[in-house]
Amino acid sequence: MQTTTEILPGNDRVSIERAAALLRAGELVGMPTETVYGLAADALNGSAVAKVFEAKARPSFDPLIVHVPGTEQAQALADFNTQAERLAEAFWPGPMTLVLPRKLDKRGEPIVPDLVTSGLDSVGLRVPNHPVALALLRESDCAIAAPSANRFGSISPTLARHVVDELAGRLSVVLDGGPCDRGVESTVLRVAEAGVEVLRLGALPIERIEEVVGQSVAVRQPSSSPGALDDQAKPSPGMVQRHYAPGTSMRLFESADELKAFEPEGRWALLFAGAIPNGVERFDVARNLSESGDLTFAAAALFSTLRVLDQLMLDGIAALKVPDEGLGRAINDRLKRGSER
Ligand code: TXA
Ligand code: MG
Repeated sequence: MQTTTEILPGNDRVSIERAAALLRAGELVGMPTETVYGLAADALNGSAVAKVFEAKARPSFDPLIVHVPGTEQAQALADFNTQAERLAEAFWPGPMTLVLPRKLDKRGEPIVPDLVTSGLDSVGLRVPNHPVALALLRESDCAIAAPSANRFGSISPTLARHVVDELAGRLSVVLDGGPCDRGVESTVLRVAEAGVEVLRLGALPIERIEEVVGQSVAVRQPSSSPGALDDQAKPSPGMVQRHYAPGTSMRLFESADELKAFEPEGRWALLFAGAIPNGVERFDVARNLSESGDLTFAAAALFSTLRVLDQLMLDGIAALKVPDEGLGRAINDRLKRGSER
């Protein structure tokens, strides 16, 4: 069914109440978070969750993250071990998703439905650090299932307007919380007895996680065919290689030297962060994600810059890797996946 999609001011009581009422009625709402905008639904309402998959054209093997207002509400839905408690204490509210064993109700049924977790025995949980998301969580009194509010495989939205560009007519309300200050998705961690593993690189740098965990954490490599894998090998089905992709073809360069040897054919854009690479004049458009090379700024600007470049109808986008440390790892991960074909 087609509806018109309205952008409402997120810092307004009446808007929050209206969005909360929609959620409780099983409808979808666009919700700002500090990472990217989410497509929110009541996580415990199966038909609401089904609408999320339909609106995004998202395959049902890709589980959704459940957002809650605090650690206490998270503990009602999943089993926390000591390590998980320590991580929650350190980083919530914030851009970290913990994948933990689902809790069962009195009848032995999982509280979070299978549709949310794609039938996995674990659930991804996060307490977002954004006043509008927290206000919506509290007002609705719902646990909120929310994937990024884009069509499957496309670039995640970092402005309310991007949500409308992606999903107009598929939801009635987007709460406007301004530009997302992190700009890349949460870091997804699996916490098991054996240790902590990164399932998706994201806005919380690994170095900070290691400080809390007290040992090095492994990073799971993306898989090319997530649907075909079993539960064990499929800890984060969203780790499909081609993802976060602009429509314009993108090519990733490991170094300024590799870029120097490249001869663009037609009209190309160059995307980089920091010092201007040699040979920039061969490109029709050049975009610097951060002149000072600040990776926090670069991450915040990444998706909106890709969207702008995508609208220029160029022949290609050449992206130069940023330093592979801190937030740079998440930026390089998104650039790499955007350039898979
Ligand atoms: O920053 C974010 O995480 C944003 C905002 C809206 O919170 N959400 C987001 O959701 O990026 P989505 O659906 O685009 O990505 C969720 C990721 C996927 O890679 C999914 O596979 C993984 O989390 N995930 C969720 N539940 C999981 C589970 N039980 N086991 C393994 N991976 C899980
Ligand atoms: Mg996504």
